[in-house]
Amino acid sequence: WLATEFDGGRHVRRTQKICAYERSTNRAFMNDAGQVVVFDHPLVQHKLSIIRDKNTPVKTFRETVAEIASLMVYEITRDLPLKMIDVETPITRTKAYALAGKKLAIVPILRAGLGMMEGVLNLIPNAKVGHIGLYRNPETLQPVEYYCKLPGDIEERDIFLLDPMLATGGSSAEAISLIKKRGGKKISLVCLIAAPEGVSVVHEQHPDVNIFVASLDSHLNEHGYIVPGLGDAGDRIFGTR
Ligand code: PRP
Ligand code: URA
Repeated sequence: WLATEFDGGRHVRRTQKICAYERSTNRAFMNDAGQVVVFDHPLVQHKLSIIRDKNTPVKTFRETVAEIASLMVYEITRDLPLKMIDVETPITRTKAYALAGKKLAIVPILRAGLGMMEGVLNLIPNAKVGHIGLYRNPETLQPVEYYCKLPGDIEERDIFLLDPMLATGGSSAEAISLIKKRGGKKISLVCLIAAPEGVSVVHEQHPDVNIFVASLDSHLNEHGYIVPGLGDAGDRIFGTR
């Protein structure tokens, strides 16, 4: 099922079902560009409910965001190439697998993407890290750029763009444009919760980008917040209001 078929929410249920059904063939499913993959793993869904709860304290919220990001990236990196190396165990010499050294970059969208970064770096500590600073103008909901610093060799890297919330899609679409302007080519957008509206916007502007989410929620409210969502991700991660 390709994201090109995505149609403003009408196919949300179908997307989730097909992702579940396709779980055994996830590898092939995730290899083609321009797809939406919903992670329906029980651990991911359980942890998502924890961060949706408005009574979850900041410490638990922050830790759980990082854990979900780890679980998602564990799956997304399933196709990383391996090479054989020589290893001496306490018993004997043997051949064993090691990562073949594919160049990766993690790019959190400030601020809330920082909450996902730690969980991702725990799994791929050698990845280079870029930062994109964007905030959403509360009246217009348009993204406002205030910072962009990416690895110098970004064009050679597989890039994981991190943002917990894909709402109107303005921030993610703008961040992808900024990365592409600096030469970035292979970009995966990793979000915790997406609204159908945001998926459509990113897919229309950047049909080459795969979108990975833990949940496709129902819709946006009149203030541009995801329903049911989890509220303001940045405020909940950093304890601001
Ligand atoms: C939030 C969130 C996304 C953006 C999503 O950031 O972290 O970056 O909103 O909304 P959109 O899809 O409609 O653009 P926010 O602007 O609240 O900034 P913050 O992370 O600094 O709190
Ligand atoms: N940004 C958030 O943090 N939450 C939303 O629901 C929408 C945008």
